[in-house]
Amino acid sequence: MNTLIVFCTHYGATASTSEEIAKGLWDEGFEVRVVNSKREKIRNISDYELVIIGSDMKLMRCCGETEKFLKKFQDELRRKKTAIFVSSGTRVIYQHEGDTDTLEKEWKKNLVDKIKRYSLNPIALASFGGVLDYNQMGFLARKTMNLLVDKIEAAGVQEQEPGIYDTRDWNEIRKWTKDLAQKVREYDA
Ligand SMILES: Cc1cc2nc3c(=O)[nH]c(=O)nc-3n(C[C@H](O)[C@H](O)[C@H](O)COP(=O)(O)O)c2cc1C
Repeated sequence: MNTLIVFCTHYGATASTSEEIAKGLWDEGFEVRVVNSKREKIRNISDYELVIIGSDMKLMRCCGETEKFLKKFQDELRRKKTAIFVSSGTRVIYQHEGDTDTLEKEWKKNLVDKIKRYSLNPIALASFGGVLDYNQMGFLARKTMNLLVDKIEAAGVQEQEPGIYDTRDWNEIRKWTKDLAQKVREYDA
């Protein structure tokens, strides 16, 4: 199964999540190419049977390169097997607080609305955790995101290195990857 994972990142989480998904798919016998859409322009996706699109989230929006990719290849993507995931630094807070309204709102805005806009029919969707790296944030972003530190810690996420909180659940990412491989096989059967 020739697979493309195309991702967009600001702080690096979507890159390492993409690498982990690629590793899982290789273990399942898939052939995988991982591309950072900010560094490399994708001109053609005709060789790929499965396309996985990963995007960071900032201010409830995914990055511009992801939108451009979806817009450019929407016709082809409709005919392929696709999966979409986003990296959300704040999801862990709403999960911990049991704020299902916000979780549902984000799921709809970040994933469902996007699929509708491009009439896609993905096999799998996910909102994974992300990384809050206060060392890389600008002054204003740091000031706003500082308000979340207590909530992130209350949700059980510890500071990994000074200023860095990784809210990802790697087991969730690995399980999603395994399930995706299974769904792709069933799709083809
Ligand atoms: C200024 C700013 C705004 C953010 N806005 C959101 C948001 O609206 N929703 C969300 O889930 N995470 C938000 N985050 C957290 C990011 O999703 C998190 O940092 C994620 O890891 C970004 O992906 P990346 O590491 O691949 O860049 C924001 C982070 C910053 C610095």
